[in-house]
Amino acid sequence: MADKHVVKAGDVTQRVGVEVISKRGVDVPTLIKMLIANAGAEFASTYYYYTILRMHLAGHEDYKEICEDARLEDRAHWELIVPRIYELGGELPNDLKAFHDGAGCVAAKLPDPPTVVNILTLLLESERCAIRSWSEVCDVTFGKDPRTYDMAARILNEEVEHEAWFIELLAHERDGKIVPSGHFRRGDPGHAPYSKNAGFYNP
Ligand SMILES: [Fe+2]
Ligand SMILES: [Fe+2]
Repeated sequence: MADKHVVKAGDVTQRVGVEVISKRGVDVPTLIKMLIANAGAEFASTYYYYTILRMHLAGHEDYKEICEDARLEDRAHWELIVPRIYELGGELPNDLKAFHDGAGCVAAKLPDPPTVVNILTLLLESERCAIRSWSEVCDVTFGKDPRTYDMAARILNEEVEHEAWFIELLAHERDGKIVPSGHFRRGDPGHAPYSKNAGFYNP
């Protein structure tokens, strides 16, 4: 009887974790490209753009708190997804500029002038880009690659919350309107209730 397994015993050049999702219809090279682009957006967002944008919200300490939660959750997103790229047989670009230029969302720049309204608008749109990109990953993995789907869905949960937070802040700041986000305070900074490998329901 022919061996139905593609990956032979002891073979370290191929992965059963890739074989099974390919058989179920995942285009793995395309998925790896999507994950690298999304990782690039999370990396640039948390370590650079969110950091400098947040620092220009001086005097709005409440907004800075919200930004800090969103910034640290992007860091959790980066750390959650990078191992998955390697598990699938991919790798991060060796060249940081290439990595940056391939990011799935347009790089946010400090707006000119760096007003609170301009900063909040940028942050809102960056959350919207993240929602679109992670939803695409959910779409191509749903029912086929449970591990990537689970990670993308956990990230998406937080991106959707972030959009709601910035809608609330921008509506208040720009239009004097109350548009509640349904926000409850996070735990410690960097809590990331969905995207960190902590128990969801444990204190
Ligand atoms: Fe994110
Ligand atoms: Fe976000």
